Amino acid sequence: MNVILVAAECAPWSKTGGLGDVAGALPKALAKRGHRVMVVAPCYRSYAGLKDTGVRKWYKVNGQDMEAHYFQAYIDGVDFVFIENHMFRNLGSNIYGGNRTDILRRMVLFCKAAIEVPWHVPCGGLCYGDGNLVFIANDWHTALLPVYLKAYYHEHGLMQYARSVLVIHNAAHQGRGPMDDYSYVDLPPHYLDLFRMYDPLGGEHFNIFAAGIKTAYQIVTVSHGYAWELKTTEGGRGLHGVIQENDWKLKGIVNGIDKKEWNPKSDIHLTSDGYTNYSLETLNTGKPQCKAALQRELGLPVRAEVPLIGFIGRLDNQKGVDLICEAVPWMMGQDVQLVMLGTGQPELERMLRELENQHREKVRGWVGFSVKMAHRITAGADVLLMPSKFEPCGLNQLYAMCYGTVPVVHAVGGLKDTVQPFDPYNESGLGWTFHRADSGQLVHALGNCLLTYREYKSSWEGIQRRGMMQDLSWDNAAHQYEEVLVAAKYQW
Ligand code: GLC
Repeated sequence: MNVILVAAECAPWSKTGGLGDVAGALPKALAKRGHRVMVVAPCYRSYAGLKDTGVRKWYKVNGQDMEAHYFQAYIDGVDFVFIENHMFRNLGSNIYGGNRTDILRRMVLFCKAAIEVPWHVPCGGLCYGDGNLVFIANDWHTALLPVYLKAYYHEHGLMQYARSVLVIHNAAHQGRGPMDDYSYVDLPPHYLDLFRMYDPLGGEHFNIFAAGIKTAYQIVTVSHGYAWELKTTEGGRGLHGVIQENDWKLKGIVNGIDKKEWNPKSDIHLTSDGYTNYSLETLNTGKPQCKAALQRELGLPVRAEVPLIGFIGRLDNQKGVDLICEAVPWMMGQDVQLVMLGTGQPELERMLRELENQHREKVRGWVGFSVKMAHRITAGADVLLMPSKFEPCGLNQLYAMCYGTVPVVHAVGGLKDTVQPFDPYNESGLGWTFHRADSGQLVHALGNCLLTYREYKSSWEGIQRRGMMQDLSWDNAAHQYEEVLVAAKYQW
């Protein structure tokens, strides 16, 4: 099948979160299964190794002509196509920055240019007209694509062979705004109702995600747990009604992970500074070595027996950083070390620095985003905390398990799907979960986890090994995506 995945970010070129990882990895897994795959993403900077296709096209965006310049790279069986315009270029690292109308104009241009990629960019093998092209749009940023496919093409008898699938990675951002925003999306009047939503608190508003969900042939979200949560008032954040109506085309598929990037056996970030690669066979020597190297690198006391707790993620309340802060007084009464890595809300960054200053022997707060440090903490920590308030899939808990690091998570969305709670009676399970987002529950779960770490070594090792033995690669997820693509293909 011919597949074109369209996303606002794509690792390693651009990434603010898990969406970038998925856009970088899922296409390769689909290509490995024999599909012809392209990825289309905006070009935010000059990326090394891209070929200038020479193609430049002009699109009307809200009455203004805008240029899209297409670049390309062929990697691991996938054609990565980048769309350049000064609006993307001027963003720097803040790729979702700017005021609302700027963001809208960028997304409109991007979706219009992405749909035409198969015509403009000569990628070997993509053939049209044989009923075999499926676009995979991701999140609200590209939710206009299914709508454009219908309004600009299908309604005019064009591209009848093409289908669209929309993946919901996070329903917290929906492209909401006042109804007047409709003038920016360049659609005929009879499409307006697709975008019209009512909010019990905010009243009538314009919602791009809603229009995409209604129009796409199939919808995927990134775990079964989140697929269920999206249908509830709390989880759907206003979209629950639309999701319920479109439940027949919704499927939960848990993300995979890129085993080239995240594998303790071959992780390139573990080859220097005293770190080491390790595997199931060398877990008992390799992981302690990484832990000691991490303690040394961060200037913490180098002690093998102290449980080292890690947190990696955006410093905001979605990620449950407030719960960790509330649990800190309890944690500091324990013999533990705590390492936190991330950027985000300035007051939380400040708090992290303060915490470190107050507890120099126990806490390190690394403000910033460092891929290398993320890998090293994943390898060196004993425990990974993920108290997210909501988490559609979550990737860090998957990375942690591959590295023999035991997750303690709030049982929501993908965290609930992927971290089966430890059962001491059957010696089964992969970590600890708690069911309400409060610090008391976090402390309770973490307390049990630390007790097991200290007192029940063989149970602990069992948890580590079960985590490492799972197949969390993309192959499995790609197979499930394939079923969705086929369902879309035969749908009218
Ligand atoms: C979003 C979600 C996260 C998910 C990622 C990739 O960032 O918040 O839970 O893992 O998308 O799908």
